Amino acid sequence: MTRRPDGIRGTTITGTGMYVPDRVLTNDDLSRLVDTSDEWIVERTGIRERRIAAPDQASSDLALIASRRALAMAGVDPADVDHIMVATTTPDRILPSCACTLQQKLGGTRAAAYDMFAACTGFVFGMGIARGLVGSGIADTVLVVGVETLSRIVDYTDRNTCVLFGDGAGAAVLQACDTGVGVHAVDMHSDGELGEVLEVPAGISRNPASDDTVAGREHFIRMQGKKLYPFAVRSMAEATQRCAEQAGWDPSEIDLLIPHQANLRIIEAVRERLGLPAEKVYVNIDRYGNTSSASIPIALDECVRGGRLKPGDKLGLAAFGGGATWGATVMTWTLPLERARRAAAAPGAVKATVS
Ligand code: ACO
Repeated sequence: MTRRPDGIRGTTITGTGMYVPDRVLTNDDLSRLVDTSDEWIVERTGIRERRIAAPDQASSDLALIASRRALAMAGVDPADVDHIMVATTTPDRILPSCACTLQQKLGGTRAAAYDMFAACTGFVFGMGIARGLVGSGIADTVLVVGVETLSRIVDYTDRNTCVLFGDGAGAAVLQACDTGVGVHAVDMHSDGELGEVLEVPAGISRNPASDDTVAGREHFIRMQGKKLYPFAVRSMAEATQRCAEQAGWDPSEIDLLIPHQANLRIIEAVRERLGLPAEKVYVNIDRYGNTSSASIPIALDECVRGGRLKPGDKLGLAAFGGGATWGATVMTWTLPLERARRAAAAPGAVKATVS
């Protein structure tokens, strides 16, 4: 394993996994709950259906399946994981963290486990922190999970938000690799001035749960979608450009871009800004809607298991979300196709559909 002259180790993804619940909620189902239509939702967002967790499924249950799949692909025993980082806006509870619950279910007893609240950018932030831990030698193996049960904080009487969100989990194992490949750059940003554009107004210290907050439906997501739209396009495109620059690439050299799946029109606008053809940008929003921190690792696992990524490919991941937060990462893919194929063929493997 080569190190850079400054002692920094290369960091790469050695396994991915995803899980989405079985229950499908279609646009027609939603049109029976609120004043909307399949036509409006598809035209404005690209979403056709989303998955909804069963009543007895919490975020850690979804995360467990995705994590087991990622660890199996990487050939890593849970006991050998050094850090478990769970990016989520919908942990099982505030205490204990979703990551600690996941650690207990996985049997990853050695790992430091903690949650990260960075909304839809959580997985990209997780990649950045994992790269720091592995690159510096503090950790050898980091499990980064993005998981959401957003259906629990979506107001199914609000047509502005309820059509957008879905549930799911994705996970990736990050480990050391030769320098020159793996993660080249991670770009991470936040702007708290935009906090009120996307919020859950009540439930914790600012506005604790009370009869009034429940009656006012203040425990659900509220969003000013129009304000987020231009910010989303600009922030994802610019973060990807900065990462490509650091890697010494022109953005058009990227072989596969996986953007956060919030809205098909946002994805299209980012693609145009970066000068990428449609076949280089992965889209699955039609099937899952916006799964926030889970959207990128779910899409990544579909690409890995579907044979869409081969060693040497230039991969970009880009996200934006509430907070506001935004960021990107670029890497040279290292995982052998054979390993992904074996994992895809293993009993209980996720069926991959690659567009
Ligand atoms: N069905 C029918 N009509 C609707 C619906 C719906 N589901 N939702 C809103 N409308 C109506 C509005 O009430 C409005 O009606 P009006 O003109 O009579 O007031 C009209 O449609 C147009 O609404 P807009 O908000 O202008 O619609 P827009 O084209 O901007 O699309 C959308 C809305 C899809 C929310 C878009 O703004 C968007 O995607 N923004 C970004 C949102 C986003 O990315 N959020 C998540 C980011 S962070 C995270 O991922 C957690």
